[in-house]
Amino acid sequence: MQVCKTGQELSMLRDAKRSEKKIIGFVPTMGALHKGHISLIHESISSSNITVASIFVNPTQFNNPSDLKNYPRDLQKDLELLENAGCNIVFVPSVEEMYPAIDTRVFDFDDLDKVMEGQHRPGHFNGVAQIVSKLFDAVKPHKAFFGLKDFQQVAIIKKMTEKLSYNIEIIACPIVREPDGLAMSSRNLLLENKYRELAPLIYAILKESVIKLRTDSPLNVKKWVTKMIGNEPLLELEYFDIVDRWTLKSVEQNSTKDSLIGCIAVWAGNVRLIDNIIYNY
Ligand code: PAF
Repeated sequence: MQVCKTGQELSMLRDAKRSEKKIIGFVPTMGALHKGHISLIHESISSSNITVASIFVNPTQFNNPSDLKNYPRDLQKDLELLENAGCNIVFVPSVEEMYPAIDTRVFDFDDLDKVMEGQHRPGHFNGVAQIVSKLFDAVKPHKAFFGLKDFQQVAIIKKMTEKLSYNIEIIACPIVREPDGLAMSSRNLLLENKYRELAPLIYAILKESVIKLRTDSPLNVKKWVTKMIGNEPLLELEYFDIVDRWTLKSVEQNSTKDSLIGCIAVWAGNVRLIDNIIYNY
């Protein structure tokens, strides 16, 4: 596995692979890797000739300075995991490398960023688009792999890819869960024991909501999920919404239920967890 710290090193490797007509698969990450990230690496390996990963904790997508400061980092362990998974190239740039000047670009996501994560984390998706577009320019992949735990992020990245006319296939990969159901996330490392024990409740409630939605309206199911999380004093609901999975618009009354997704954000102490469930009937 080759580790590149600068765009120049990366571009030499990338151009060599491209001239050999290799298909490049790309997995962008912020490090603190877990099995969810490794599943993306495996997906890339299975459908590309060369897999490139990046590790970069992107400051412009953090709307909360303490979240950026506390974000878990363990480069050595990440590199070992990537090497063992069969990744070919890792790009580990510095902040100066990615942002030699302030990035003032403002993206238009046709309102996909006006709800849920976008509403509660102002500027977050603009920062995601800034870094992902810079990484796409540096890696020039044919395909890029993203986890569906960040469902709204995947929608935003697809929109950005379309609007900026990148010829890159965006591949959305399933959520990977702990045996107790908690969606894998780098932030899980930050959970104190009492919160870690409770956190699987989030997915248990989402699964139960699937059954409820069979016989009740999205509005009532939202109220039910809100009540269930509210019953647990150690968890604080930031939002739960049932939205159309393509437009991300909130749905309250009965509609075509197979296009709906329930998205949730919950504070467990000072750690913010997100999860979602697709209502497939
Ligand atoms: O999902 C993430 O880890 C980040 O948002 C991403 C896509 C690597 C951009 O920094």
